[in-house]
Amino acid sequence: MKQTIKDLNLTNKRVILRVDFNVPIINGEVGDVKRIEAALPTIKYILDQGASLIILSHLGRIKSNEDKLTKTLAPVAKKFEELLQKKVIFIPETRSELVTSKAQALKPGEILFLENTRFEDLNDKAESKNNETLAKYWASLGDVFINDAFATAHRAHASNAGIAVNIKESALGFLIQEEIEHLDKLMNAPKRPYLAIIGGAKVSDKIKVLEKLFETADKVLIGGGMAYTFRVALGKKVGQSLFEPEYVDMAKKYLELYKDKIVLPVDNGISKTFSNETAVYTTVDNSDISDDYMGMDIGPETVKLFEKEIAKAKTIFWNGPLGVTEFSNFEIGTKKIAMAIANNNDCYSVVGGGDSVSAINKLGYQSKFSFISTGGGASIEFVQGNVLPGIDTIQNK
Ligand code: 3PG
Repeated sequence: MKQTIKDLNLTNKRVILRVDFNVPIINGEVGDVKRIEAALPTIKYILDQGASLIILSHLGRIKSNEDKLTKTLAPVAKKFEELLQKKVIFIPETRSELVTSKAQALKPGEILFLENTRFEDLNDKAESKNNETLAKYWASLGDVFINDAFATAHRAHASNAGIAVNIKESALGFLIQEEIEHLDKLMNAPKRPYLAIIGGAKVSDKIKVLEKLFETADKVLIGGGMAYTFRVALGKKVGQSLFEPEYVDMAKKYLELYKDKIVLPVDNGISKTFSNETAVYTTVDNSDISDDYMGMDIGPETVKLFEKEIAKAKTIFWNGPLGVTEFSNFEIGTKKIAMAIANNNDCYSVVGGGDSVSAINKLGYQSKFSFISTGGGASIEFVQGNVLPGIDTIQNK
């Protein structure tokens, strides 16, 4: 059992807290506050204990100096201050004498928020490669480390795993505890039928989680770009649709092994270009996609087929969009599936991943789901049964 925040005495301590404030930035402003709000209970608890805080987060991926202009945490710090209704001292630096002295001077109740940890990736990928010097430096800024960045827990970076192994005391925050509690229910004796809905562009990205779900779930509904690889495996034509020839044999093997579990789309919304064209629909009787078209969404008959399965389920795990949701004409299938899950009041439903979650948000259906994970990749790796380094490196009780 991992140590949790309530196991530690935080009074008068300087607490280093890793959060995941990797939020969308639109025209220099925070586009979605959910990840910030999700960390507030842990932050408020730490402050209430009479501790001071040094907060670390990443934002996006940093490959060049230009990236620093659009991926600064400055607008996030402003939004965070507003939501917390407390002063936040933002320093646009990740390691410096200024950072050290500010951290040392912190008084109980004060909050220091550092610049994007991945700015350190311009320094031979120090953050992402978990550089020991960097990890030790960040660890030296405080007395205790709390990790509450669930969405980053599948990464072994300096600002999570690195600090954890270089500090005397470490524990999990409330958000990570909540995520584990909900995702564990999918792993341990889920109520049956247990239905998984997996979408997204590529089989190669999701193959490991699919393999796990073929074993553990009763039905696996497959949508999004990856479904076209399965349709090719069935001998169907997919026109210009995205598909991965090197995964066709594997798809064939799974279709044979798990024929009673896998449910594929039977019709599709298609278009001639990758744009928000008016959708044309294939039919169940004529589901081949002709050479000049590409698959963009699931069709109405697939929605009905999926709705039937969803209505019967007692547990649902959903990750990934069923169509190209950035185009309003091709987000219909994803939205209908969100509605169908919301309408099943008798099931335990867990969703992870940006596009599926934003479909739910657009519909205002957040409260109709049992749990919306803050993690996309992290929730998938958890459901796969993988060890997440951000959690694994925290001290045991
Ligand atoms: C996410 O948004 O999934 C997390 O913040 C992790 O980001 P990453 O995939 O860039 O590590």
